[in-house]
Amino acid sequence: MRCYWVVLVLLVLDVVLATSSPTPVNNYQVLAGHQIWRAEGGSEVAAVMGRLEEEGLVDILGHSIASTFRVFPGTKDSVSTSLQREGIKYHVVVPDLGRHLAEEERRVKREILSSQGETCFENDCPKPLTQRYMTYVEIAWYLHELAAKSPRVELKSIGKTFENRDIWLVHIKPTAKEGTKKRDAIWMEGGIHAREWISEAVTLQLLDKLASDDTTLTRNIDIYCVPIANPDGYEYSRNTDRLWRKNRAIDPSMERDCTGVDLNRNWSTGYGVGASTNPCSEVYQGSAPFSELETRALKKEMTRVSSVNNLRLVMAVHSFGQKLYHPWGFTKKEAPNTAEMKKAGLAFAQAAAKGSRGRKGAQYEVTSSSELYLASGATDDWAKATLDVPYAYTLELPDEGLHGFVLPSNFIKPAAQDVWRGMKKLIPMVLNK
Ligand code: ARG
Ligand code: ZN
Repeated sequence: MRCYWVVLVLLVLDVVLATSSPTPVNNYQVLAGHQIWRAEGGSEVAAVMGRLEEEGLVDILGHSIASTFRVFPGTKDSVSTSLQREGIKYHVVVPDLGRHLAEEERRVKREILSSQGETCFENDCPKPLTQRYMTYVEIAWYLHELAAKSPRVELKSIGKTFENRDIWLVHIKPTAKEGTKKRDAIWMEGGIHAREWISEAVTLQLLDKLASDDTTLTRNIDIYCVPIANPDGYEYSRNTDRLWRKNRAIDPSMERDCTGVDLNRNWSTGYGVGASTNPCSEVYQGSAPFSELETRALKKEMTRVSSVNNLRLVMAVHSFGQKLYHPWGFTKKEAPNTAEMKKAGLAFAQAAAKGSRGRKGAQYEVTSSSELYLASGATDDWAKATLDVPYAYTLELPDEGLHGFVLPSNFIKPAAQDVWRGMKKLIPMVLNK
């Protein structure tokens, strides 16, 4: 019986999904107040129901079972009157289809997650998930819980996106209280490119490790992390176009109807090099440096951090390729502190490659990003050029191209373990002696 209802509601959901607009509405809100009724009787009922459906008063769910149908919020009274007039008995099977579907989805989700020993609900998302990629909302649930339960963690929104989502910044404070002098800080950025889902996933795992670290590694430093820098793009990649890269901003003055700016071409450093002025390009640089809400929010906060701290490390996490890039990316010239960046980068790569529990680690190649192709307007170059951050990197996570951006979620755990081992080596090397 239960199965039967699941099939029915899925049938209905299918119709709603196919006919509703692509705007981020909640499917269950669309069906709130809709009901499912069942009438008693045989072919004479089917005839009446057919007529009511033609009049647009009901939606018959599966034409072999004409006696089970959906009634719309505005048609309940007329359907009820018609049925009574015809002497047909009926009863309400599902009093609120919207709520019923939402509950059903929660039930299914709980079953799947708990079978894997993980859970993620509002006020019950204690760990970032490793068995599948989290939604933007789940990530926010996790971050709020982390901040609520750990006294060293602060969470704040540093701005809103075009589609009005918060851009979350996590601040992990040092455990050591003493000292009035400027402390060293590190900055991590995840998910500036929409389709690189492993970036958010690994960044969240690192965040979780760092927040619960009780070693000297994090005793005296401030850690700042924006785990999902492009929330609109991420959700669009999840829901609509898996290979979407940019944000989702619409420029009202735009002639063509193309959406989105490559946020890693929108920073000011070297602006324009290896980027496109064509709004339809994947690497569209935007109408001007910092034309985008996301890059403006990041820039403002990074600038603030570098005034209150010694910002020593900026790590922008991307995929794929298994590379650790250091600046510059916009020119072939050598950036200040290149030898040191290489040295610390190699220590990262060596630790990452060690692997754990009998598993070989991923091999990361350490190289200048200009060796890939010249590309400007990226976080790493801007941090180095403008904030004079001694260690700036772009980390390209696994894999090497077999799955590429569409990386199965079973990569989350090993990738995070490798990077965590690498970070434990890298962080002490970037700090002031
Ligand atoms: N795959 C990254 C991108 O294309 C690499 C960025 C490297 N950094 C740079 N400044 N080019 O955005
Ligand atoms: Zn990227």
